Amino acid sequence: MTHSKGRFDGKVAMVTGAASGIGRAIAERLHAEGASVLGSDVNVEGLDTLGEALGDRFLARAGDVTVEADVALMVDAAVDHFGGLHHAFNVAGGNRAGYLLDLEAEDWDFTVDLCLKSVFLCIKHQARRMGTGKAGSIVNIASLNAHVPMHAGAAYATAKAGVEMLTKNAALEFAELGIRVNAVLPGLVETPLTRRHFDNPDALAAFVARIPEGRAAQPGEIAAPALFLASDDASYVNGSSLLVDGAWAVSGYPDMRPFRGPVKWNG
Ligand SMILES: NC(=O)c1ccc[n+]([C@@H]2O[C@H](COP(=O)([O-])OP(=O)(O)OC[C@H]3O[C@@H](n4cnc5c(N)ncnc54)[C@H](O)[C@@H]3O)[C@@H](O)[C@H]2O)c1
Repeated sequence: MTHSKGRFDGKVAMVTGAASGIGRAIAERLHAEGASVLGSDVNVEGLDTLGEALGDRFLARAGDVTVEADVALMVDAAVDHFGGLHHAFNVAGGNRAGYLLDLEAEDWDFTVDLCLKSVFLCIKHQARRMGTGKAGSIVNIASLNAHVPMHAGAAYATAKAGVEMLTKNAALEFAELGIRVNAVLPGLVETPLTRRHFDNPDALAAFVARIPEGRAAQPGEIAAPALFLASDDASYVNGSSLLVDGAWAVSGYPDMRPFRGPVKWNG
């Protein structure tokens, strides 16, 4: 994948969920494009591995995105260490799945706090510190599930729909601070979060049958559009949701080709 070298030269970015998957890919690419990066996660070992790979211009800060004091400390660490905050990527997330008829309230709270409350806490503290510099951009990672429900995923899908609306509200309120806020809605991405689907050929085939691109994404394919939204190339993109799903969202109708026959035009 080609990188526009230097697109984030001199910029400071923070990434939550940086120890793994999509967050790690975003942190790596920001760093490769010149940014100083504060990576945060509860997975300290994963942060250490990332720190060894990136070297200078990277600072790890352990913290839980559902705890406001932790979030404030992460943001302060970026500003104190690197001298400001220009971009933030709110990526940390996860899911305790369960059918609505079985789901414990505690598991609902876990998932909604991790996916939605965390983004509220992050954007609040990020914008407070960015606002003093009068410029910045925030990218929140939601999900295709913001638009599409899934069995045993009510808490997750509801929280991700909330992230999309929270993004719009933040765009409305932060525009006067010079801060843009957008969301990325990934489809299926191969990460530790989705490992179990890739370890089960039948489950993977069921997913892929719905995805016109015929495959899942790699984390870098989510990082690239996330960086676009953060960059000056997207200077007039604000309050938007970018689906990055291999056309999965448009594939709701069954594949009727077996019933219709092949295309007749042969070039
Ligand atoms: N993988 C997919 O198919 C997919 C699809 C759509 C959306 N997403 C979203 O993308 C984001 C990243 O997911 P991923 O697939 O890279 O998963 P991942 O499990 O690889 O990474 C998630 C990271 O978040 C961290 N984390 C979990 N709880 C935390 C907490 N309380 N505080 C701080 N960090 C915490 C984990 O330690 C982990 O490093 C999530 O918000 C997820 O919902 C993923």
